[in-house]
Amino acid sequence: MLVGVVVAGEKRAAGIARVLIGEDAIQIRVRELARELDLIYADEPPLLIGVLNGAVAFMTDLMRAMTVPLEIDFMAVSSYGASTKTSGVVRILKDLNAEIGDRRLLIVEDIVDSGLTLQYLLELLRQRGPRDIRVVALLKKEKPGAAEVQVDAVGFPIPDEFVVGYGLDYAGLYRNLPYVAILDPSAILPE
Ligand code: IMP
Ligand code: MG
Repeated sequence: MLVGVVVAGEKRAAGIARVLIGEDAIQIRVRELARELDLIYADEPPLLIGVLNGAVAFMTDLMRAMTVPLEIDFMAVSSYGASTKTSGVVRILKDLNAEIGDRRLLIVEDIVDSGLTLQYLLELLRQRGPRDIRVVALLKKEKPGAAEVQVDAVGFPIPDEFVVGYGLDYAGLYRNLPYVAILDPSAILPE
């Protein structure tokens, strides 16, 4: 069973080695990104596309920090399962409800790791003829050899380590943490 431990006044979930980006820092950065996006979309309402499940926390905070009129939709793509390594295989589990022809799209992603998921999504959505597509990712791993992929705005560049929290999971857990943290190796299941 997972229980919490209190470290230096902060309630930390079991299995967390250390907090990488705290709740306050995330909230400040999300508001900065929202201000930049408000300027970009001042003239025409964007359709925010959240990539489930990981982008849920970022998406809900970002859309509430933006003040321009906007619409939202979600896509779900396959993820790691119970592994901490990217499979490179992308599968659509849930497609958009909205028609996106001639729309201004803002893809909202939790993290760009290998870049493969995003590369696939961009190709798929471009074929449907949107007016333009931008990408905002909360996190981007600084990773040698990652795919060259379009990312227009990044919340935080992070080292190439497996992180959880604020939407990001390991084996389905930890998405509800309000901060981004590095997983304790002892919490990683043998593969
Ligand atoms: P990609 O390697 O850029 O294709 O990343 C695919 C997806 O894997 C991301 O959108 C995340 O949902 C997930 N992912 C990548 N890195 C991490 C991580 O460090 N922790 C948790 N999920 C991750
Ligand atoms: Mg994701």
